Amino acid sequence: MTEPTIASKEPIAVDLQAGETYHWCSCGLSQKQPFCDGSHKDTEFTPLAYTAEETKTAYLCACKRTKGQPFCDGSHKDL
Ligand code: FES
Repeated sequence: MTEPTIASKEPIAVDLQAGETYHWCSCGLSQKQPFCDGSHKDTEFTPLAYTAEETKTAYLCACKRTKGQPFCDGSHKDL
C-alpha cells in the first residue's frame, strides 16, 4: 500500500479541545475516522499526533490527500 485509502471525499467536522492531543488517521483504514484506531498496523502509515491550540470545530481530512494534515485543504475535490 503506497497510497492511503480514501475514507471519505468530504472532511469530518470534529470539536477539538485546546491542549488535547489527537491522533489523525493517515492511512484511511480506521473505522473511527478521522482518528486512528490502529488499523494502520500492517501498512507503512503512522498516525499524525496533533495537539489543538484552541477549542474549536475543525474540518479534518478524510480523503487523506491533504497537504495540510490533519486539516482539509480541499484536495478531495480533485478525486
Ligand atoms: Fe489509519 Fe492508524 S488507523 S493511521
